[in-house]
Amino acid sequence: MYILGIETSCDETGVALYHSDKGLIQHSLYSQIAMHNEYGGIVPELASRDHILKLIPLIDECLQRSQLTKSAIHGVAYTAGPGLIGALLVGAATAKSLAWSLGIPAIGVHHMEGHLLAPMLEAQPPEFPFVALLVSGGHTLLVEVKDIGHYQLLGESLDDAAGEAFDKAAKMLGLAYPGGPLLAKLAEQGQAARFKFPRPMTDRPGLDFSFSGLKTYTMNTLNQTEKTPQDKADVAYAFQQATAETLAIKCKRALKQTGLKRLVVAGGVSANTRIRQTLTTMTDKEGAEIFFPRAEFCTDNGAMIAYAGCQHLLAGQQESLSISARPRWPIDELYA
Ligand code: KG4
Ligand code: ZN
Repeated sequence: MYILGIETSCDETGVALYHSDKGLIQHSLYSQIAMHNEYGGIVPELASRDHILKLIPLIDECLQRSQLTKSAIHGVAYTAGPGLIGALLVGAATAKSLAWSLGIPAIGVHHMEGHLLAPMLEAQPPEFPFVALLVSGGHTLLVEVKDIGHYQLLGESLDDAAGEAFDKAAKMLGLAYPGGPLLAKLAEQGQAARFKFPRPMTDRPGLDFSFSGLKTYTMNTLNQTEKTPQDKADVAYAFQQATAETLAIKCKRALKQTGLKRLVVAGGVSANTRIRQTLTTMTDKEGAEIFFPRAEFCTDNGAMIAYAGCQHLLAGQQESLSISARPRWPIDELYA
């Protein structure tokens, strides 16, 4: 069964073709970053318009590279939310129209479920159950995953998402949007011993996060320096280290609380090398296994949506032809 996956929730147009037995066949991605960079952040209306321009050519490209035609597709999966409403509707309308014209089903996928299942595309996927840490630009979630479709929210960020905090701290350091990867690069030149940032909300029980205080701490620390390149690198290092250790403390707690010995880390921020190292050191110490998607599937992509949609269609899930999207959609409401 060939499933076409469409991701348009934010600033990346992603398309992929996944086969239920053969695995991932092909994927194509177009990033709008250069366009939004000029404005220092995402402009939602520009994002929607650009998805309209890029989506159909990307679908054609993906099929051509797979040496298949539309008639080979058995189902279409698209990101139904959460995300930017205009951007989501481009994907939803395209997916539903294509499905209707081909007489095949279309299925809406929760964007964070896509991220959560991205490690399933790797050669050695995790087995169920596991704890998932989802760290993206819009969300920071700890989820107990019993099986596909069985998700229990353990904790989440009460303010900024981890990726959002990276992007805002990066902006303070004079870096372009999205600043997460650029801050990580700058931190490579930083000195470990210079600044020690707090590890927010780790001194009290619970699995929720808060990253907005780290942002303020970044600004205050930076303002006490002369803002030389070394000052900025040292601040970047301290910010990244504090984020990595905070995530590790909460993940360790989540493993203990659930009694599970398997951690999956996904979403854009899971591409961060220091965060990967810190979490891997923690799981090694705890005798737990850790799984990440390959770097290109940490950030938004069509492959994770095609995979998730395929599982839902195989489970017999169906939806009507009406076109809708959910800009806000808590993950624990997925199968409530
Ligand atoms: O999952 P994603 O592509 O989009 C959302 O669903 O939000 O995540 C994007 C976020 C951005 O905030 C970006 O700065 C961050 O992931 N990011 C990183 C790295 N690569 C991407 N943050 C820190 N280090 C990185 N290497
Ligand atoms: Zn995402």
